[in-house]
Amino acid sequence: MDRERFYAMMEGQTGLDYELYLDTATLLSLQKPFDALCNQDELQFQIVHQVEELWMKLIAYTLLDIDDYMAQKNTNRVRTLFNRVHQLQDLMLQQLALLETMSPREYQQIRLALGNGSGQESPGFRVLLRMAPLLWETFQTHYLDADGKTVESIYDSAYSHDDAYVVAECLAEFDSRFQHFGYRHMQLIARSIGFGAKSLKGRSVDLLKEGVKRQFYPQLWAIRNTMTGQWGQAHGQVRDALGAA
Ligand code: HEM
Repeated sequence: MDRERFYAMMEGQTGLDYELYLDTATLLSLQKPFDALCNQDELQFQIVHQVEELWMKLIAYTLLDIDDYMAQKNTNRVRTLFNRVHQLQDLMLQQLALLETMSPREYQQIRLALGNGSGQESPGFRVLLRMAPLLWETFQTHYLDADGKTVESIYDSAYSHDDAYVVAECLAEFDSRFQHFGYRHMQLIARSIGFGAKSLKGRSVDLLKEGVKRQFYPQLWAIRNTMTGQWGQAHGQVRDALGAA
């Protein structure tokens, strides 16, 4: 096939309304020019990162709305928007798999072009890290403190599957998927550069294992432990086998 002809088509610029509205001319010029790519995997590498940034932008934007709706205790809106966030997080996870179709050797060529850039500099990641604790403050003020509730009461002693519980579970789901991204990203690193390697800032990749343990809402994880511990006290830590007389 005639590469040059198809390269030109991939850049668009017919001036039709579809292109104007989506500003595809700008969008499709945000990757390196075809003749500047270091190998055939680099376009994928750049696009996957760019798409992930777009999803994180949309997640952050949606979380602002969620925060407003939590302050209004509009739980239906909160649930619907959290559903969107959770689906976006799933997409982010799935898309990491694309980079596993890149050979370690070709990634090493791409790496030469990355300077000392680090995922920790990702604007999307940074804004999400800042927002997550603020969401908890809003939840605590409006769904717990305002009604004299606690995490313990909504999960256990006064459990009724109420709005506060439903929103808490949305937050737990957000936290869980964020952790899941961390695990998935670790697998990607193992596949491409290997653990034991050093990052482009010279730091040990092993340090990322600490980040994977990050919990935005430790209260929501702790309540499960507490409840199971109490269950063990009431019913025995080790139970008889079902077949025992
Ligand atoms: C082959 C592909 C990839 C490799 C080899 C890789 C490697 C790494 C390494 C070595 C670090 C640690 C950096 C440091 O110490 O400063 C890191 C951090 C990070 N990377 Fe990647 N990465 C890849 C793809 C991606 C993609 C597609 C994303 C999408 C957003 C991403 C997001 C991040 C984030 C957010 C961090 C910071 C994590 C934290 O601090 O907990 N990475 N990555």
